[in-house]
Amino acid sequence: MTKKRFEICPAAEFDAGERRIVDLDGFSVGVFNVDGEYYAMKNDCPHQRAPLCEGKLGGTTESNSPGKYEWVRPGRVVRCPWHGWEFDVTTGESVFNPHKVKAKTFETRVEPSEDENTVADGGCEGCSADLEGDEPPVETYDVEVEQGTVVVYL
Ligand code: FES
Repeated sequence: MTKKRFEICPAAEFDAGERRIVDLDGFSVGVFNVDGEYYAMKNDCPHQRAPLCEGKLGGTTESNSPGKYEWVRPGRVVRCPWHGWEFDVTTGESVFNPHKVKAKTFETRVEPSEDENTVADGGCEGCSADLEGDEPPVETYDVEVEQGTVVVYL
């Protein structure tokens, strides 16, 4: 089945540490910029369907021995606003049971906007060019897309 493509916004307008809650074809989705990488997760907690992506975003604690805690995954963990379950937005996995409890995630990329891909077709009135010979008929320029658009696939 072909995935549907949704353009969220220009990457240049979506800073690290930010999130956007967007409606994509009736699905509420949280899109996150974590240290310059983009991730999307369904805004629906697997516990009791709270708007998960609206929860507090931060890190979590881990412990390898009693009484010692370490702050890890800063900016990657969202805490559900209803009962506090924590999920890693980069994988959708819950912190307490990552192999069994997961939030749905979606493929997210930075790509040229479809508008940027549009190539005008046709010529100009009154223009004529001699396309034969060694010299190019017009001066040309290399074009690169420097800033893409954040895109989510559902
Ligand atoms: S609804 Fe999210 S932890 Fe309960």
